[in-house]
Amino acid sequence: MWRLFLLISLFAFPTSSRAAPAASEKTCGYQSCHPVKEGFINVHLVPHTHDDVGWLKTLDQYYYGSRTQTQNAGVQYIIESVIDALAKDPNRRFIYVETAFFWKWWIKQHDTVKAQVRRFVNSGRLEFISGGWSMNDEAATHYQSIIDQMAWGLRKLNDSFGECGRPKMGWQIDPFGHSREMASIFAQLGFDGVLLGRIDYQDKHFRLASKTPEMVWKSSQSLGESSNIFTGVLYNIYIAPSGFCFDILCSDDPIIDDKDSYDYNVDKRIDEFFGYLNNHSKTYSTSNILVPMGGDFNYQHAEIWFKNMDKLISYANLRQKTGSKYNLIYSTPSCYVKAIHEESTKTNKKWLVKTDDFFPYASDPHAYWTGYFTSRPTLKRFEREGNNYLQVCKQLYALADLGPEDRVDLNVMREAMGVMQHHDAVSGTEKEHVAHDYARLLSRGFDECHIITNAALSQIVTQKTNRADKIPPQPARIEFNTCPLLNVSQCELTESKDPFVVTVYNPLSRPVTKFVRLPVTGTSYSVKGPDGTLLNILYT
Ligand SMILES: *[C@@H]1O[C@H](CO)[C@@H](O)[C@H](O)[C@H]1NC(C)=O
Ligand SMILES: *[C@@H]1O[C@H](CO)[C@@H](O)[C@H](O)[C@H]1NC(C)=O
Ligand SMILES: *[C@@H]1O[C@H](CO)[C@@H](O)[C@H](O)[C@H]1NC(C)=O
Ligand SMILES: [Zn+2]
Repeated sequence: MWRLFLLISLFAFPTSSRAAPAASEKTCGYQSCHPVKEGFINVHLVPHTHDDVGWLKTLDQYYYGSRTQTQNAGVQYIIESVIDALAKDPNRRFIYVETAFFWKWWIKQHDTVKAQVRRFVNSGRLEFISGGWSMNDEAATHYQSIIDQMAWGLRKLNDSFGECGRPKMGWQIDPFGHSREMASIFAQLGFDGVLLGRIDYQDKHFRLASKTPEMVWKSSQSLGESSNIFTGVLYNIYIAPSGFCFDILCSDDPIIDDKDSYDYNVDKRIDEFFGYLNNHSKTYSTSNILVPMGGDFNYQHAEIWFKNMDKLISYANLRQKTGSKYNLIYSTPSCYVKAIHEESTKTNKKWLVKTDDFFPYASDPHAYWTGYFTSRPTLKRFEREGNNYLQVCKQLYALADLGPEDRVDLNVMREAMGVMQHHDAVSGTEKEHVAHDYARLLSRGFDECHIITNAALSQIVTQKTNRADKIPPQPARIEFNTCPLLNVSQCELTESKDPFVVTVYNPLSRPVTKFVRLPVTGTSYSVKGPDGTLLNILYT
């Protein structure tokens, strides 16, 4: 897909065009980072929005921006507004994280918009960070589902943007504690670092006081060095410094630089910002600090943010003439980590090593975020069944070599499971109506998967039967039913049909011994194996 675009863009943007670099020229990645200044404390301003894939509102309510009385948040407006703001100045940067939202927006865009977004991605002005379908929870999730949801988001980015769409960092800024296994997965994804927002408050106080909020996480004993990953804990979770949230959702003063205005406030505002930076920079051990400029569902009107950050950067850096030690730049998490890497290589800096989890998470005294390990147990169970069925579905799809139409069905389940991994989904921290919506999405995933298992099993069974009977292959005719209500011991087919055939499929790569429990009416059944031998049954 990307190759195709390259060809087209070469024709569409002939070299004779006198505009800046050809659209196909790629300068993404570390080379697109704004340079840092030696001898200064480099302040990496990272414009970002944290878009929950459901929480107080459902996925679609957040995307479309409905239910504003619950929360003023519309992701489609955020992405569009950011694209417009990036177009105004090539110095500006933005990161985007949740591929579930981005993809929903991307597939509806006109080719000219897509071409513009590709240019921003290719030049590093728009950078995907983490890039999973959602920002997954790390406590209530299973590693297999984390890998699936990361793979699904990253695949979409790769398909659309190629190498420039490949995230280089983990950005787990809101999950409620962090697992070593997640760090290991990030390392094995080839990421160069991971940044965290929430760790235990006492741990954080200690690390800030001892200038050790950044470390090397040895995330797997068995994998050894290849699982080591640079890990940083952010100063203020992921939120802009107090007084410097330039969003429609905030009420902080803009920077007013008209000297004729009675409200002129540049000097005061820069002093305030430097006051914050003094505190922040004291607690980190290098001459680079990361200041997230954003928050939950920020940037619906991105120009307010960027206009004020443009001024903040230019007036703050003017102070360098009068001895300021701060150098502000637009940056991204990966540019920040690159700068730290270069500095620490030069100074041969040794990092503290971390080997265990960041669990449990307490944000304040007596505020342990541990209820979510077990809350909404039925949704948690449903999610696990979703993982099981997704594996079955993927395997049977591949085994039967089904076509693109069935792949669409499979993707419904992939996406439902990707959404379920979000830190307000399987965790159970969402509102009741949102939990219902998650169950609805997942239930649709099951239905679509059922279409695939049905088609695949029919095909596999038909092929086998035909081969044995040495007759040419016949179109599949076998109808498979599933019993989604086994959780309440209900299955219409087994309770009403006599006799019936049960197909048992083990999606694991190893043999297992399990009881198969089915609701039946009556007590005189005989159960035969595939070769006709009688099997033991147990009535309960
Ligand atoms: C990324 O996309 C390219 C081009 O379509 C493809 O060749 C490559 O296999 C993809 N990489 C992954 C990891 O899927
Ligand atoms: C800096 O830290 C001090 C001491 O904790 C605090 O009182 C002050 O409010 C902080 N200043 C800013 C601008 O954050
Ligand atoms: C059983 O599962 C279905 C979905 O498959 C769900 O609607 C129902 O609430 C579940 N029942 C219980 C008691 O958990
Ligand atoms: Zn969140």
